[in-house]
Amino acid sequence: MTEVGIDAIEIRTGKLKLDLPGTFAPAQGEDPGKYTKGLGLNASSFPDTYEDIVTMGANAAHRLMEREGLEPEDIGRIDVATESSFDNSKPVSTYIAGCLEQVYDGKFSHANKGERKFACVAGTQSIDDAYNWIKAGRHRGRSALVIATDTALYARNDPGEATQGAGAVAMLISEDPDLASLSTEQGYGSADETDFLKPNQQFPAVDGKRSVKVYLARMREALQDFESVADRTHPDDFAYIPFHTPFPGMVRKAALFGYRHMIRDTSIEDELAEQIGRQPREEAFDEEEAYEEALTEYMDGLKETAAYREWYDRVIEPTLTIAREVGNWYTGSVHLARVSALKTAAEEGRELAGERLLVGSYGSGAQAEMHAETVQESWREKIEGMTLDEQLEERYDLSYEEYERVHDVHNHAIEIDGEIEELTAPDAEFVFDGWGRMGERKYRFAE
Ligand code: CAA
Repeated sequence: MTEVGIDAIEIRTGKLKLDLPGTFAPAQGEDPGKYTKGLGLNASSFPDTYEDIVTMGANAAHRLMEREGLEPEDIGRIDVATESSFDNSKPVSTYIAGCLEQVYDGKFSHANKGERKFACVAGTQSIDDAYNWIKAGRHRGRSALVIATDTALYARNDPGEATQGAGAVAMLISEDPDLASLSTEQGYGSADETDFLKPNQQFPAVDGKRSVKVYLARMREALQDFESVADRTHPDDFAYIPFHTPFPGMVRKAALFGYRHMIRDTSIEDELAEQIGRQPREEAFDEEEAYEEALTEYMDGLKETAAYREWYDRVIEPTLTIAREVGNWYTGSVHLARVSALKTAAEEGRELAGERLLVGSYGSGAQAEMHAETVQESWREKIEGMTLDEQLEERYDLSYEEYERVHDVHNHAIEIDGEIEELTAPDAEFVFDGWGRMGERKYRFAE
């Protein structure tokens, strides 16, 4: 059967950087350790005044098309996933296609365009849509362009401000992919939740502590649902497990739950029993509270074992390297985690072709999705062609006052007095260029 999956990937970070322990924490009167040790973050990417979800998405897509030698004719759909949209009718994909048509001779008039919404899981859902479109044979030999783009900003002084970020991930979804093929098997965990939402408002309303619990509960259900159609998972099955990463500390929690689940009734559980006992079984407890207590005690012991630490350092830690430097990119976050793992493998000279990833996506509101991927022969070339390190290195390091000003510029409710100055210079890229007569945003390619 034909394999379908990710053929190529490109990333575009916001061009500004907010140093969290160095600049943000002192201004907030907080200990930098909350960021570096607690949340696991060093910095957030932030959009300059001429950047937004369209420019970042279009710039990522443009570079992807250039690298792959593609013309509009080769793309049969453009799906944008975002939770930062500024229009309830006209999809961001039309703006991005409009940008790309400024620099290509061809048009995207034949391409189906849309915008996907389900918080951060929408990027993965867009990949699904493309996968199904290709598998159904409706693609006429073309590929789909999936773009996950967000300005993940929170209201000033919201606890979420610690976990902001901005950037876009563009992915080419094709038949016989060069990077990773997707499993047909998927698992879901879905429930009507009010952990994080934006009811007609720009910045999210968040119940932060609850959102962490909801993430873990839905992810557990998705893993169990995945196992109900695929085989039972085992820690040795996957080279890496990229999770949705709102901040690395969240993944630290998810990974421990995942590992406990995977080692249950295996020889690993038996071997660890000498040190920390066997996992508590719910049926052995009369009271839910007593079971929860026993579970917490087991997990506290488990995370200190050499077996868990070795697995975590090998399978999870490499997925977090980029997130530590850029923060949360919402829809793009899990796709950054995949890149982070593959980039580490390439840097370590590791051979990965044929190995499997287990990918855990999550969107507030809430839904988790799990599927497996198989790394393809040309993965290294695709990853090494990216310019992520250069982009991160070149970001402008914001002072706290500049951060406050730039946050205001991106706040739709604030009218800025005076000139809106840029902190970086555009360099052969799409930029925001003001407003049109119907309130639409205008863009141009700045040479
Ligand atoms: N040294 C070491 N660790 C420290 C520390 C220090 N000096 N100070 C604090 N910490 C630790 C804390 O113990 C805590 O760790 P644990 O959770 O393991 O206990 C961690 O750092 C964070 O500290 P706080 O809980 O005090 O931080 P907070 O009150 O500012 O809230 C937050 C953190 C709830 C994540 C908040 O940033 C938030 O609301 N973020 C947005 C919501 C979010 O990202 N939720 C994640 C799940 S939902 C999702 O995934 C969808 C999405 O993308 C938004």
